[in-house]
Amino acid sequence: QAGDKDVPVERVLEMPDDLAETPRHPRIPLPAALFGARRNSEGLEYGSDAALRPMAEAMRAAPEAPEVRTVDAAGAESAMERAARAFPAWRDTVVGARATALRRAADLLEEERPLLMATLAREAGKTIDDGVAEVREAVDFLRYYADEAETLCQPRLLPGPTGEANQWRANGRGVFVTISPWNFPLAIFLGQTAAALVAGNAVVAKPAPQTPRIAAQAVDILHRAGVPRDALILAPGGVDVGQALTASPHLAGVAFTGSTATAKAINRALGERDGPILPLIAETGGVNAMIVDATALPEQVTRDVVASAFRSAGQRCSACRILFVQEDVADRMIEMIEGAAATLRMGDPIDPAVDVGPIIDAEALERLRAHVADHTPIWQGEAPDGLFMPPTIIELGRDERLTKEVFGPVLHVKRWKAGEVDAVLDEIESTGFGLTFGLHSRIDATIAHVTARAPAGNVYVNRNQIGAIVGSQPFGGRGMSGTGPKAGGPLYLQRFVEEVVISTDT
Ligand code: SER
Repeated sequence: QAGDKDVPVERVLEMPDDLAETPRHPRIPLPAALFGARRNSEGLEYGSDAALRPMAEAMRAAPEAPEVRTVDAAGAESAMERAARAFPAWRDTVVGARATALRRAADLLEEERPLLMATLAREAGKTIDDGVAEVREAVDFLRYYADEAETLCQPRLLPGPTGEANQWRANGRGVFVTISPWNFPLAIFLGQTAAALVAGNAVVAKPAPQTPRIAAQAVDILHRAGVPRDALILAPGGVDVGQALTASPHLAGVAFTGSTATAKAINRALGERDGPILPLIAETGGVNAMIVDATALPEQVTRDVVASAFRSAGQRCSACRILFVQEDVADRMIEMIEGAAATLRMGDPIDPAVDVGPIIDAEALERLRAHVADHTPIWQGEAPDGLFMPPTIIELGRDERLTKEVFGPVLHVKRWKAGEVDAVLDEIESTGFGLTFGLHSRIDATIAHVTARAPAGNVYVNRNQIGAIVGSQPFGGRGMSGTGPKAGGPLYLQRFVEEVVISTDT
């Protein structure tokens, strides 16, 4: 193949101005989504009465979100048919107009924040801090994907021989189904849905059965912002609806966040279909570990473990599930973590004094209690009556392993001896998951060695391991934790488009 210097200048087509790329720098969001940030997006100190009280009042005054009717399998298929009819016009809407709809929706989310946070608290048990962070993340997703789409989906003229014009386009694929979880029922629901839409797809969105109301509010906002009603249809329901949607002849791809088992079931269903090979973007769970060595700063470890393991009642896929602590400092570290966790206040999520809200439902609480009953915790905090799970610490013996995700405020602890870091990393990798990972160490060589092995998609050093920020910390795991591309990252939209190249003799 000829090198650049061999191609005569006149044979390289100029990129015309009206098709030229307009690269934008993603706006770096305020660190409000980051646990540990001192100030919220209004500049008020997190957790201070000044920040929380007016918000709590506005949330209490917000009307109850209306009930949402579920669809059945036939309703799911008719949603797919309607979306398929709406698809071509939405695909052919210029990307700038699709991006504008997302940006308007972001503005509406900010304007209607108390109403949305009230629904997040009532339906998903989100505390005020978690609600602020969640709306912020949803807004960040919308603005970030709007910017990214304007770069990715801009048609380009590619260089070629004289007498030929080569145009490259990234088009929407068709009808995308998005299936989202209850633990980020606004941010993840909107992130997946907005990405698919702005890339030029029609979307049928299935929220988690526990959280249809906040999803309905999000869809309403996107419609008011300019997304045509049939280009985005909400299809609330259970497993039967998910199965009907992924079996539909109109399906062009699936974006799913939830359990690894369900992701594999969807993958099998897609593989067995007649017709095209369809993309699946799956974000799943993790058995997320943190390693602490004897040089770590104990107060910092305490703060970061409490945030990572117990905040949000541990109901984050990023949450720390197992702490590997060097035995020389283990007793002191465990004692400090217990002391700090004991100060967390549980209760009504709209109460500004509350740090941790409830578990999502009775079934999930029962699963957590059963897990704890199978082990003897070395410490357990206190919880009020109701759907509350106390923060719990379980110590594992040298031969015991944690291989499954325990989705709640249950921290497992395991001691290791100096010189065993590689064995600990082997153990972490042997789970097959790889979502988040934390390291606390003050030894540069240890940090370099451990981060080079990077046993997860998101690696956090000397900080907590939750609350990835859109555009700054693209989020997603590997292996059993997900397919990628990372949400909130520069490659995410690529899975939602299909490329077309049109070569024309001029
Ligand atoms: N993106 C969330 C976090 O980083 C988890 O879903 O905590």
